[in-house]
Amino acid sequence: MAVTNLDIRDATANDLDAIAEVAIATGQDEEWSGADPAYIGHLLAHGRVVVAERHGKVTGFGATRRIGDGPDAVTMLCDLFVDPGAHGRGAGNAMLATLWQDTPRRMTFSSLHAHALPLYTRSGLDAWWPLLYLGGDVRALHLPSGWTVSEARPDEVAESERRWTGVDRAADHAAWAARPGGRSVLAARDGAVVAAAAVAGTGPEYGIVHMAVEPGAGPHAARDNAARDAVVAVLASLDPPGGRARVCLPAPHAATRALLSAGWRSDSMDVFMATDPGLLDPRRSVPSPALA
Ligand SMILES: CC(C)(COP(=O)(O)OP(=O)(O)OC[C@H]1O[C@@H](n2cnc3c(N)ncnc32)[C@H](O)[C@@H]1OP(=O)(O)O)[C@@H](O)C(=O)NCCC(=O)NCCS
Repeated sequence: MAVTNLDIRDATANDLDAIAEVAIATGQDEEWSGADPAYIGHLLAHGRVVVAERHGKVTGFGATRRIGDGPDAVTMLCDLFVDPGAHGRGAGNAMLATLWQDTPRRMTFSSLHAHALPLYTRSGLDAWWPLLYLGGDVRALHLPSGWTVSEARPDEVAESERRWTGVDRAADHAAWAARPGGRSVLAARDGAVVAAAAVAGTGPEYGIVHMAVEPGAGPHAARDNAARDAVVAVLASLDPPGGRARVCLPAPHAATRALLSAGWRSDSMDVFMATDPGLLDPRRSVPSPALA
């Protein structure tokens, strides 16, 4: 394979336009994607962004975000995109090799593009479960009995999540809340806060972006049901124009069946890939496909 003249380097704010061009060429033109300077700016500030250059022209970009600290830290691959004219010539592989140096615990949500899953498999990640992009009418859902949902500040939501998981996501919660439609919410059962979520997005993309739930005690089934009710409660509390909202859920999540039964539809999917399946619990996690 000809890899001559292929150069991988850290991106800067001067690359925002070139990154947006690659993102748009690969069909990523939405808010909070590679075409959005706010999204890439967040990754430049809190993660790592690289570009692939061939003959001095940017042909691809990739980004990671470290979640947590110390030996338990997980490196999330947020983006990996190569201009379609340059696919299959080693740029994706070379960017991955740079981004995943010295990062033993790795995860990503792979697209269904034919190059993506084999590329990640060869980098040591295995494919574990589908992440479904679900959309539907919030008016078909009902606040489960005993549940309330209230608006909070992003730092309050981040603090609940940190208490439950030990991971500080304050910068991500602040960034999600600053997006169009952004809100931070806490969901309580019988008056006790048990879920903390970020809601954001525009038009058909509006919905839950990320949610953390209290680990709880007791039988698995009861904890799974709480994770299900938390998703349903937050969605039922939203009031978007036309009633439409979205959430990405692991197919095995306890809320997936409830939403499908209420007439919600899945219109696309990614595949959760990780060096260890335990990095995310598919029954209870509501990860952002970009930042997890
Ligand atoms: C996925 C993507 C980033 C990969 O970048 P790329 O530059 O095309 O990939 P590379 O050329 O470095 O590597 C592709 C590898 O997949 C292998 N491959 C391709 N098709 C394959 C198949 N059907 N089965 C197994 N392996 C396959 C190639 O042999 C190559 O490996 P090699 O370099 O060791 O030979 C790029 O194709 C892309 O932007 N796709 C569209 C956007 C997208 O879906 N991105 C993924 C987001 S998670």
